[in-house]
Amino acid sequence: MQPNHFPRLSQLHILMRLGVVFLTLVLLGGYVVSGIHMAWYYEKRDGVPGLTIDDIRAHYHGVTVPSPLINALEDGHPEDLSERERNILLDWLRNPATLSARYDDFDLGEDAPAEIIATSCISCHARNASGPDAYPRLPLEFFDDIRPLAVSREINPTPIEIIAVSQHTHAPVMAVILLVIALLSAMTRFPRPVVGGIILIGAVGLFADMGAWWLARFNDTWVYAIVGGGFAYSASTGLAGLLIIIDCLIPGPRKPD
Ligand code: HEC
Repeated sequence: MQPNHFPRLSQLHILMRLGVVFLTLVLLGGYVVSGIHMAWYYEKRDGVPGLTIDDIRAHYHGVTVPSPLINALEDGHPEDLSERERNILLDWLRNPATLSARYDDFDLGEDAPAEIIATSCISCHARNASGPDAYPRLPLEFFDDIRPLAVSREINPTPIEIIAVSQHTHAPVMAVILLVIALLSAMTRFPRPVVGGIILIGAVGLFADMGAWWLARFNDTWVYAIVGGGFAYSASTGLAGLLIIIDCLIPGPRKPD
């Protein structure tokens, strides 16, 4: 068969082409929804709101989330805390073993962390704090508020069995979808190298994504391959889907049936 004789979408009956348009729309819509679902699902992995690369890293590799208190103090927050008091707090936080003992150690007097926090932080970090600069979402009133923020936390990667279960459903389905999209887009009238390039990018992306799920356990640089590969796959599927829809909607030259 000559390459030119590869069947064309434009040779199909208009009813069939409309059917293909709607199915492609459902497919792409489904991917948009699963993208949103993924964002919700991964968002809180690293304990920080919002989807970031660290959420993906936490899922596939595990991460250490540094103490938010140490982070904030090292970043110079709050601005008007004296250097001396900042150092007292940092010194206290960097010794987790004596965290609770020193928190309100009577012998430290004014220099007890509890005292410094009460005078320098509570005005903004109380549950009932109000005002333009207040941050009642993060109360620092009691030791129980402070303890979880004082230590760095290890977030373990998702158990390998769950990764396997997830891949065993994702890999075949995603590959088959791209295969169908590849066949349909090969039947459009768009230039073959363009369509082929788009599909190749998606296919290599999926391959890298799926392989990196495993490699990221050992080396977290592969997390970028998961994100990059996933992005290439979605972009390729979306773009090729769009080409299919456009081609189905543009009437072809009428041929005898
Ligand atoms: C003038 C008000 C004010 C004071 C005083 C203040 N904070 Fe904050 N703090 C905020 C606000 C507003 C935020 C949220 C916005 C931001 O991150 O800057 C915040 C955020 C934080 C965060 C979270 C940072 C993150 O990673 O999200 C920590 C931890 C924190 N403060 C600790 C402290 C400590 C400890 C003190 C006292 C030594 C203190 N703050 C004093 C207003 C204040």
